[in-house]
This record gives sequence, structure tokens and C-alpha cells, in this order.
Amino acid sequence: MKLPRNFFKPLAAGAPAPTRELPVRLERMIHFVPPHIEKVTAKVPQLAREVDVVLGNLEDAIPADAKKAARDGFIAMAKATDFGTTGLWTRINALNSPWVLDDITELVAAIGNKLDVIMLPKVDGVWDIHYLDQLLAQLEAKHQVKKPILIHAILETAEGVMNVEQIAASSPRMQGISLGPADLAASRAMKTTRVGGGHPEYKVLADAKADGGARAAYQQDLWHYTLGKMVDACAAAGIKPFYGPFGDFSDPEGCEVQFRNAFLMGCAGAWSLHPTQVAIAKRVYSPDPDEVAFAKKILDAMPDGTGAVMIDGKMQDDATWKQAKVVVDLARLVAG
Ligand code: GLV
Ligand code: MG
Repeated sequence: MKLPRNFFKPLAAGAPAPTRELPVRLERMIHFVPPHIEKVTAKVPQLAREVDVVLGNLEDAIPADAKKAARDGFIAMAKATDFGTTGLWTRINALNSPWVLDDITELVAAIGNKLDVIMLPKVDGVWDIHYLDQLLAQLEAKHQVKKPILIHAILETAEGVMNVEQIAASSPRMQGISLGPADLAASRAMKTTRVGGGHPEYKVLADAKADGGARAAYQQDLWHYTLGKMVDACAAAGIKPFYGPFGDFSDPEGCEVQFRNAFLMGCAGAWSLHPTQVAIAKRVYSPDPDEVAFAKKILDAMPDGTGAVMIDGKMQDDATWKQAKVVVDLARLVAG
């Protein structure tokens, strides 16, 4: 793999240098919290025991006149809570907003040693990541932050989708990329007001019948193309792909199917915007026990990962051994 253009250099002796080795962590649900609402932040210590990642949201959905309260609330929440092995992330405001510089400088100064990942919205290209990368390097050196803060990009502009391969490989700080279907729909002038999920009008019709009977209609997945492109870009760069938000809280089945499609295609997790979506994400992004049992049979049957065997009438070889290892490794991580 080619090194990113401005490969990170620590600014001071002893400053942390990110490597390409990402910490192996479960990140099945990135749970969004509005940090300016005390009723919600009061529940964070309990929440931190139930989810893989707690994310303090500072961007969209936080009103302009609450941006400072959200930032202050997030800092207070981060200081007051022991997150244990649960990830602590934030979504900062976009780089072209009036709030982002204070977001970055104040967070690193106050909680740089607790913050695991900064989610950067509306990433158009590598220049956005390089800017944040350099700024973090300067702030980490200044505030003696002991481990590099990682970057997670949201893929939610047409330009970002065009540049996703370069974005994924843009810095050793890159932890992953999430699909942002709402902003992406707007950026592409897609004709939907939904936040993720399907659309009943995006479909194909079965061929006409000779007897003139009703033609079956099959709904298609609006996000398949983008998810596939994003998963390949992330896998090639050694970082993690994530499905983003599913906005219809009254449709848990639709949410589960969308999350599962992303899981099957290679995603590591999704966002949970509502407490009911935590259990859905946990179920979907933990491998199915039957699948794990079958995968273990494959590993047991081919201890050195080579050759060809038949199991339950199905051919297994070096490639299926690797597939099985993906499933078993995830099951082991879930089991702790
Ligand atoms: C998320 O930020 C989205 O725009 O879908
Ligand atoms: Mg968005």
C-alpha cells in the first residue's frame, strides 16, 4: 500500500505516532447522544455498560444556539464517566462551519486523553482528513495526549463518494467510514426525504405475463452501490466500514434488514439513534450461532488452512477457510 501523501509525523519528542494497526474493538453500535440535554447525559454511565461506543453529537440535530452547550456537556460527560472498554467518540461540526475550530481545540485540550475517535462529517476528499490530521498532531503535542485520536469520516457527499478510496487511505489515523444516507441523498438530488432504508418506488417489475395478470414488483436497495464502493475502499485500506443512521424509529424491521444487509456486505456496525436500535445492532452485528458453528467445523477440518474437504455436502477450500475465520474471529471478539 502507498503511504498517504502527508504521512503523519509527530510534532514533538514523545508525541504519539499513529500506526496502521487499529485497535481490535467491537463497534457494533455507535450510540448517538445529544450532550446538551441533561436528562440524556445523566443516563450515560449506565449506557456506557450497554453499548460498544458512546458518541457525543455536536453536529446536525443540535440547534445552532445549543452548539456550545453540547460541546460543554460532552466535555463534562466525558470527564465524569468511566467508559471502561466502551469507545468514546464525538461527531464534530463540519469543517466549513463556525463551530468546528472550537470543537477540536476545546475537546483535545479538555479530554484528549479520553477521546478515542473524532467523526468528521461531510468529508469531500483527502484534504479534509489531512487538515484534521495536522491540527490533531499539533494539539496532541501541545496538550501531551498519550495516544493518537483516530478519525472516522462520514461518506455523505457525492464528491466524497467519488474520492472514497483516497479518503480511506488518507492517514494512519483513519479508523473507518460511515455511510450518511440523508446528506448524501440531498447532495445527489435523490428524491427521498427518508434517513436511510429503502423506498417503495425504487423497484423493478417482473416481466409482463402472457395472460395479462398483475406483474410482481420488487423493491431494490437504494444504498447497495454506495455501500459496496465504501466497503471495498475500507477493506483495501485496512479500516472499518459502517452503515450510518436509520431514521424511522417506528420501523424496527426495516432497520434490522438495512443493518443486516450492511453486515453481510462487510460492515462492522451501524449508528443507533434511539435506544430501541441498540438491541437491533447488537443482534445483527454479532454473528449468527449456526453460522459460527459451521465456520468452526471448516477451521477444524482444515487446521493449516489449505486443501479441499466436503462438509455437509458443501465444498470447502483455502478461500472458505478465510471466510470462516472472519466469522469465528468476530464470534471470539463478541464472547470477550
Ligand atoms: C448522517 O449524517 C446522514 O446525513 O445520513
Ligand atoms: Mg449527515
